Amino acid sequence: KKVVLAYSGGLDTSVILKWIQKTYDCEVITLTADLGQEEELDGLEAKALATGASKAYIEDLQEEFAKDFIFPAFRSGAIYESRYLLGTSIARPLITKKLVEIARKEGAQALAHGATGKGNDQVRFELSAMALAPDLVTIAPWRDWDLGSRTALIAFAKEHGIPVPVTKEKPYSCDRNLLHLSFEGGELEDPGHAPAPASHLLCVPIEEAPDQPEIITIDFEQGDPVAVNGERMSPASLIKHLNRLGGKHGIGRLDMVENRFVGMKSRGVYETPGGTIIHAAHQDLEGLCLDRELMHLRDTLIPRYAEMIYNGFWYSPEREALQAFMDKAQECVTGQVTLKLYKGGVWPLSRTSPNSLYNPDLATFEEDDVYNQADAAGFIRLQGLRLMAYNKVHGK
Ligand code: ARG
Ligand code: SIN
Repeated sequence: KKVVLAYSGGLDTSVILKWIQKTYDCEVITLTADLGQEEELDGLEAKALATGASKAYIEDLQEEFAKDFIFPAFRSGAIYESRYLLGTSIARPLITKKLVEIARKEGAQALAHGATGKGNDQVRFELSAMALAPDLVTIAPWRDWDLGSRTALIAFAKEHGIPVPVTKEKPYSCDRNLLHLSFEGGELEDPGHAPAPASHLLCVPIEEAPDQPEIITIDFEQGDPVAVNGERMSPASLIKHLNRLGGKHGIGRLDMVENRFVGMKSRGVYETPGGTIIHAAHQDLEGLCLDRELMHLRDTLIPRYAEMIYNGFWYSPEREALQAFMDKAQECVTGQVTLKLYKGGVWPLSRTSPNSLYNPDLATFEEDDVYNQADAAGFIRLQGLRLMAYNKVHGK
């Protein structure tokens, strides 16, 4: 019997590794996915093997994450509850896809993850697994074991020779990748409390941001950012580059109370510096290139699309069909946006595109010969016809 476990190398997933091995008397193979969390991966293989894994995979998935997960979501303007750029949500399907690939290669019967029974992540892992490999079983130790408390967990670790970090326990539950860093727990559990200074990692507090603004340009091709200041970059490098620029200017912090899929509200602080810049630039370019009716129709679908990602339905017929629509709509979103980064804000200054639908002859306040202003009178009269009819019956 073999189980493939999503393993970070931290205390929780180390205990899970050992617990699964003991409880199910099986072989445990670990997968550590490098999604740009900037954690030390050297030594993780040895650590997994020392904790009892029979094999330890460490895979650099950063480019795949950026190109096939983050970019499609950003092309679609995905934003949950009008604010959250889905940094954690969008990573779960990719981790699951890799767990499944390894399970196939190794002939495993089960997958395992370290998400709790109260959150969204368990749902995302398991729905992705059901869509990709319905025959595989998922093990979620947090829902099954009796190590509910921190003390019990540490006792289990000590008993099984798992090194317990001596450093002071981190105040937050964090999830970091290329796109974002999330903080939950600690003082944030009370939405009436402001976030402590320790909840800053990628973004400087606005008070400490430079007094000088920085002007940058971003090039887009069919809705994807491809270059910063004229320099072409791979998807992952581009996001990292914008993370540094955004972080330096304190851009991309979000503090919100959100609705989890499982039914409770939760409060989180997010840092999404590069993603916030990309989102603002992309939206601005769309103003120039997207047809009005296409944009307005698309806008009505964004909350649905975002919900699919948030709720864990990345691998679903509805998300895939909607993606085809979104990508079709983005075919014309090519061009360049110039932005100002300053004190936590990102402001578009100018934009150009070979597909610009902006017609200076039409929009000008000066004399023109393409638009007959007299046409507007009839247009307005017919638009108002029903309002006048309504007024006849209901008017005061
Ligand atoms: N609330 C966010 C979401 O549902 C972030 C979850 C963070 N997950 C974590 N394992 N720390 O997407
Ligand atoms: C967890 O419960 O494992 C993290 C939070 C979440 O998934 O929403």
